[in-house]
Amino acid sequence: MLGGRSVLLGVTGGVAAFKAAYLARRLVESGATVRVIMTRASLEFIGPQTMAAITGSPPYTELFGTETVSPHTELAAWADVIVVAPATAATMARMAGGESDDLLVATILAFTGPVVVAPAMHTEMWEHPATRRNVTVLAADGIHLVGPVPGPLAGGDEGMGRMAEPEAILEAVIAALHGGDLAGWSVVVSAGGTREPVDPVRFLGNRSSGKMGNAIALTAARRGAAVTLVTTAPAPTHPRISVVPVDTAAEMAAAVWEAAAGCDVAVFAAAVADFRPAEPAPTKLRRADGPPEIRLESTPDILAGVAALQPRPFLVGFAAETGGTAAAAGKLTAKGVDVLVANDVTTPGIGFGADSNAVTVFTAGGSEEWPRQSKDAIANRLWDLVVRARSH
Ligand code: PMT
Repeated sequence: MLGGRSVLLGVTGGVAAFKAAYLARRLVESGATVRVIMTRASLEFIGPQTMAAITGSPPYTELFGTETVSPHTELAAWADVIVVAPATAATMARMAGGESDDLLVATILAFTGPVVVAPAMHTEMWEHPATRRNVTVLAADGIHLVGPVPGPLAGGDEGMGRMAEPEAILEAVIAALHGGDLAGWSVVVSAGGTREPVDPVRFLGNRSSGKMGNAIALTAARRGAAVTLVTTAPAPTHPRISVVPVDTAAEMAAAVWEAAAGCDVAVFAAAVADFRPAEPAPTKLRRADGPPEIRLESTPDILAGVAALQPRPFLVGFAAETGGTAAAAGKLTAKGVDVLVANDVTTPGIGFGADSNAVTVFTAGGSEEWPRQSKDAIANRLWDLVVRARSH
């Protein structure tokens, strides 16, 4: 999610500073390189050693008297995104006023990228007209505010002002980095493997776990799209993902066709049965009756149904190949898709069930190889490609 990204975490002086340690850990786990600026007040709440142990480098605390000549400009040049969590009323006021008299605000002023702020304070402070003014100024300056949320506060009281949970702040950092480039898009994703009943307890299925489709749906939602995820598998939770659980190819077809009319992009990551038992047995097949003869019939071609829509959405098909991906080249035009993502599902460590994939991506302009990487990384790269293709 944040692989290769440089995240500068600013910690200011509030009780919620203890949660900044967990946020730092989640940022690191998400692949980011994390550096931390701690204000003097924050040192009253959490020790620098904690942050050093989590991020692998000691936090920065001072604007002056360090070995670095200009720490604020160096950190500003290094960071891809700055996140201030928790952000006190005082820090927000200084940010809104451009008062660069400490390392954190000086760095924010020297920084031209996205800044995420997670306020934390008592309800009265959050609702004070001065804070309201500062919040308006920060929002107008393009600062991404996440939270606060209602809940128990430090003094034992309850109300609005609690810092957003670290997971929500992580989501906001990811969204801010991508600039919400899919905002306003409506996207349909199919995921998982369909199950075609043989009898009430058995089915014809395949090895798809839904991970590839989930990654595509989640990255799209994180980048601002409204996503309908039609899936046979457990789905990720995100406020912009609406999940339609299905089982069979026919159910998936009905759900995808309904959602795809009027959508902007449809991605077919599901492994759909091409054939199903024509007459599933109404009761469990019995061993004593001997091996059954199962007549198969074709399932609906879900992708073809969407490709026939007028106007049709931008289409991304997948192809599960065995013995290399070259054979998938013809499927770009045969399936009538804009992008075809082919993976060789016999290669160990990728494809079905794995957390990684390696794909050949075919477009009208040719093909490119994307070597083995996480399914999240493949999904983000796919969305980069779709954004470029749709802007032409
Ligand atoms: O779910 P994971 O465990 O993460 O595994 C990911 C994956 C291997 C399932 C995924 O990367 C993948 O390759 N998905 C497509 C699998 C597939 O069914 O390929 P296909 O070549 O049989 O089908 C071609 C395309 O037509 C696919 O986009 C498929 O969704 C679509 N199709 C197929 C049959 C059908 N009846 N209707 C369809 O829409």
